[in-house]
Amino acid sequence: MKLWGGRFLKEESNAMNDFNSSFEIDKRFYKEDIKGSLVHAKMLNKQNIITNIEYKLIEDGLEIIKNKIDLGELKLDGDYEDIHSFIEINLINEIGQIGKKIHTARSRNDQVALDFNLKIKNDSIDIINLIKDFIEILVKKADDNPYMMPAYTHLQRAQITTFKYYLKAYVNMFKRDIKRIKNTIDLMDESPLGSGALAGTTHNIDMEFTSKELGFQKPTANFLDAVSNRDFVIEMLNNFSIIMMHLSRLSEEIIIFSSQEFKFVQIDDAYCTGSSIMPHKKNPDSMELVRGKCGRVYGNLMALLTVMKGLPLAYNKDMQEDKEIYFDSLDTIKSCLYISKEVIKTLKFNKEEAKKGIKKGFLNATEVADYLVAKGIAFRDAHEIVGKIIILCEKENKAIEEININELKDINNLIEEDIYEYIDYENILNKGNKKEML
Ligand code: ARG
Repeated sequence: MKLWGGRFLKEESNAMNDFNSSFEIDKRFYKEDIKGSLVHAKMLNKQNIITNIEYKLIEDGLEIIKNKIDLGELKLDGDYEDIHSFIEINLINEIGQIGKKIHTARSRNDQVALDFNLKIKNDSIDIINLIKDFIEILVKKADDNPYMMPAYTHLQRAQITTFKYYLKAYVNMFKRDIKRIKNTIDLMDESPLGSGALAGTTHNIDMEFTSKELGFQKPTANFLDAVSNRDFVIEMLNNFSIIMMHLSRLSEEIIIFSSQEFKFVQIDDAYCTGSSIMPHKKNPDSMELVRGKCGRVYGNLMALLTVMKGLPLAYNKDMQEDKEIYFDSLDTIKSCLYISKEVIKTLKFNKEEAKKGIKKGFLNATEVADYLVAKGIAFRDAHEIVGKIIILCEKENKAIEEININELKDINNLIEEDIYEYIDYENILNKGNKKEML
């Protein structure tokens, strides 16, 4: 069932019909499509393009269709080209010939741009809520675990931090992700409805009215741009990619920290799987899958950038590919945010193991240099002196605090007994701006 055909002498081939149809994918726009149609019809009536009676019929027909779909009475399947055709054909079935007037002063080109814009706005609310839920869990887990752990650069033990502070680094990232989504929504807040196929319409329509009714800041300033613009989809896919990058980094760390080599954290059994051959295995598949799915979300961003790169203005059918790409990323990111949240919620931090990690690795070496600076030595010289202390420690297989005062004094005689208090691991976190980590 199609909305066109008058100028064709031959039927479309079945293969082409299937190849061309986007209905299986864009049926997810049905609410947005009906909302856009309702506002469009209201505007047509206000502008005396359709009569009050016609408008009432169309309005009721669209409401009935929406209810039937919501209730499952009208199934979103069948041989339709896309969701726009489905709604229009069912409207005509519902109210008769008047239904054919809904497409006055409108094209599927401005219609699909509108539906997609509205859908992304709606989806962004879900995504922001999922991120907020995740942040809440991260903050709770952080506050419950103000315990020390080693922090790394180059994956080499570097300085002391706390598990609390470590998790809050991710909180910061996810808060930025929310802001990034809001920026995108702000940028895309222009209604394309009324652009027609690409060059507006000869009808006396009111774009300000439809824009306002649909909750946009303003109507588009350029029809050609409005119907060929998919920047907002690309931006959202970029936002999704950055979120996945953050989730993937967290996953990688949870995987490493849960390994026998670290044992800092324990992933709950509910989020691990076993091996079919090695009976002892408990694998962190949840986190590995999140890390793996990051690739698909990056790939989707590249896919749409590539679809768009050579397109002449205005609409081209290439752009129909946008929705499958977008929905794949949307579904992926939703499941990844949910699973990651559950993993963190049930994660156990082994403070004893993390403490062991602190004792080895000279995590207080930088503070020894700070100590020397406090005694009046220039930092660069202090750095050199601590280097000598580390050589001694390695020779004697000891931590810095295990070297006795006389040996330390032999390296630099400004070192006094108070060094042990200064470089004590607990005390370090109470100095300077490190207190924030507690
Ligand atoms: N299904 C189409 C899409 O998603 C709707 C727009 C069709 N426009 C056209 N000129 N054939 O892009």
